[in-house]
Amino acid sequence: MATVNRERLAELLERERGEHRRRTSASRAAFEAADHLLGRVPMTWMNKWSGGYPLYLAQAHGNRVVDIDGNEYVDFALGDTGSMAGHSPEATVAAVTKRIGVDGGITTMMPSLDAEWVAAELTRRFGLPLWSFSLTATDANRWALRIARMVTGRPKVMAFSYCYHGSVDETFVIMGPEGTTLPRGGNVGPAVPVSQTTRVAEFNDIASVEAGLAHGDVAVLVMEPALTNIGIVLPEPGFLEACRELCTRYGTLLLIDETHTISAGPGGCTAAWGLQPDIFVIGKSIGGGIPTGAYGITDEVAAAVRAHAEADLVDVGGVGGTLAGNVLSTAAMRATLGEVLTEAAFAHMVELATSFRVGVEQTLERYEVPWSIAQLGARAEYRFVAPAPRNGSESAAAHDDELEEYLHLFMSNRGVLMTPFHNMALMCPVTKRVDVDLHTELFARAVADLMGA
Ligand SMILES: Cc1ncc(COP(=O)(O)O)c(C=O)c1O
Repeated sequence: MATVNRERLAELLERERGEHRRRTSASRAAFEAADHLLGRVPMTWMNKWSGGYPLYLAQAHGNRVVDIDGNEYVDFALGDTGSMAGHSPEATVAAVTKRIGVDGGITTMMPSLDAEWVAAELTRRFGLPLWSFSLTATDANRWALRIARMVTGRPKVMAFSYCYHGSVDETFVIMGPEGTTLPRGGNVGPAVPVSQTTRVAEFNDIASVEAGLAHGDVAVLVMEPALTNIGIVLPEPGFLEACRELCTRYGTLLLIDETHTISAGPGGCTAAWGLQPDIFVIGKSIGGGIPTGAYGITDEVAAAVRAHAEADLVDVGGVGGTLAGNVLSTAAMRATLGEVLTEAAFAHMVELATSFRVGVEQTLERYEVPWSIAQLGARAEYRFVAPAPRNGSESAAAHDDELEEYLHLFMSNRGVLMTPFHNMALMCPVTKRVDVDLHTELFARAVADLMGA
């Protein structure tokens, strides 16, 4: 197996940083002039882009992005899934333009006829009969956790080490020695220590799930069916079924968050793998880029909610928000689900992601590089370790800032954008085979340069 020569990597990184600065001087100038923004960006995460400053957006259509220096990119980042439907998809743009420009009423605290259509479509895709909307998947998770605590009368949540479910306090956990719950590094101002709210488990380790649930104080196990926020970690055979069975046995609700894993298909992993969540959360992609989120619950959970006559779901009980479920986002979801993220679109996206994965695998084999790539439907991600990590802690240990920056800049300097938080590539309905082929060729060149081949 070949190992990475760190000196060579440092040289290549300097070369790519120099090229990045040369190509993106307008973006750099805009960043340096942004004196009134915290971290010089409208949202602090935008500083995650490689190269020291973000590319500033001029235009984005389909899977193409143009920055303010006039550079065009094939976009495999797609807003880290928010634009999985492609940038400004025609049907979504037409629906929201009609809604806000012709019919009017962006936010009124009144429903339109779109909401029931969307909820029925979510039921058709994911199975849960009752839905409520938020503006982000973060909020959908937060509200769902409240509901779970109320209906079970239990105080705690279980989450997997290195999971991510949005900025949800209870989920910023990693596993410490002997299964202890530790806060993830850098947690900003938690209200209470996370060990008070959460029991941690390790993905693909059913014994750790059982050990936590056996305490009898866990209201809900919140999980992605495959981890997607610490690389992609796929479930091993039987793991998801065992989680369902243990939740039932210990009286814990199962919350499946498919905000990213909808990449598996039109009904996410839930439909593809026959999962049976009590609560389901989704967001990002289903509004075609317009802010939205949703949670769905079973009839049993709904009955338990109704049994709590004291629970204030229609005012300030901690669930809901004035902008949530607005007619702009429901119009966007109707168009996106109805016309853009269709079964045919998924078939195309999954086929391309498969080619993407195979292209990367061929290069890894050719140069005997000890990395791995995992695919979940329309998304694929490489990780600097082989075999592929089995859980969040193993995957976190494989992180390599310098390698990641080198590959990101190598790609962006040649017109390809990867997701800044990951080495992730997502296909959208208008991604083309030539776009994937371009990545395959660039990845081979980047690795050849690195290995001195
Ligand atoms: C699995 C999962 N759930 C929830 C969220 C939060 O989504 P949002 O940023 O829209 O609140 C994310 C964001 O990356 C996510 O990956």
